[in-house]
Amino acid sequence: EIPDLYEIYGDNFKIGVAVPYKVLSNPLEMKMVEKHFNSITAENEMKPESLLVDLNSYKFSVADEYISFAQSKNFDVRGHTLLWHNQTPDWFFKDTNGNLVSREVLLKRMEKYIKDVVGHFSGKIQAWDVVNEAIDPNQPDGLRRTLWYDIIGPEYIEYAFKFAHEADPNAKLFYNDYNTYEPKKRDFIYNLVSDFKARGIPIDGIGMQMHIGVGTDLRQVEEAIELFSSIPGIEIHITELDMSIYKDQSSNYDAPPYESLVEQGYVYKELFTLLKKYDDVITSVTFWGLKDDYSWKNQNRNDWPLLFDKDYQAKYSYWGIVEPTVLP
Ligand code: G3I
Repeated sequence: EIPDLYEIYGDNFKIGVAVPYKVLSNPLEMKMVEKHFNSITAENEMKPESLLVDLNSYKFSVADEYISFAQSKNFDVRGHTLLWHNQTPDWFFKDTNGNLVSREVLLKRMEKYIKDVVGHFSGKIQAWDVVNEAIDPNQPDGLRRTLWYDIIGPEYIEYAFKFAHEADPNAKLFYNDYNTYEPKKRDFIYNLVSDFKARGIPIDGIGMQMHIGVGTDLRQVEEAIELFSSIPGIEIHITELDMSIYKDQSSNYDAPPYESLVEQGYVYKELFTLLKKYDDVITSVTFWGLKDDYSWKNQNRNDWPLLFDKDYQAKYSYWGIVEPTVLP
């Protein structure tokens, strides 16, 4: 019996996992989820394309199964995600003739979607990723050009937070993004969130996705955590942690080299040492997948970014977090 992952960090530092629906019906995998974690995220099943049937109806049954599991086992749920440019049906932005709708119409649709969805789960979801990946550091104003932006304008982000807060005043509301430690992107996020706080827009935290690699500069990660935590009243969730074993784009191994797995163990160790140092502001860390063969990082090449391998065995990455002295 290996140690339970979540127990090493206590109740104010949730350890979560994102799983696809198939995991919920796999008893062995659910036993692992229960043993190691105390927070859960639906990897795809609470995104708009999964919930929307048409403008007036939803399919909540799959998402509700995550909620009942969480309630029966006392897990937190991170709701992922309300507004994103991916995995949202095209028709949501169009009228029956296929033309893009007006600003007024889209705002109404957004308000209805957010209030219906957040309302449905009200009291059962502790944290929502309200807006996902809206920053593009290559734009002069730092905002990604999406249909949300093009049709509504930059204010679409604050509207989303207001609507979510009205629908569930107790849920914590997060802005979530990747590469949040890149200086330009980091500064845009800092400015957006500080401005919201200053103007009383309801926002509780920043989600740092953390899709990193063994070569990621953890000093930059620390600088971003320092900066974000300087915003009064903001907490940080690490929302989508995984760590590629590759240092470049072109490699693709059939099997992971031993040295890479060991190196990954040491980098996970370093990362968690860093996260623990900020446990007054970092309140949750979610792994983006239960085992290597389920990771989205396998979509274009093989990778081994998580804590458990395809045979359910704990890797050096796990030991780096739980008991670093066993690392070779
Ligand atoms: O549901 C269809 C299925 O019907 C079809 O047979 C199959 C064949 O390709 O595709 C299935 O859809 C896939 C879906 O995952 C569900 O498995 C999509 O192709 C695939 O693109 C999709 O990938 C997801 C990705 O988001 C899409 O944007 C990943 O599982 C999911 O891990 C990933 O998660 C995102 C976060 O939401 C936001 N941050 C980045 C992160 C990684 O990309």
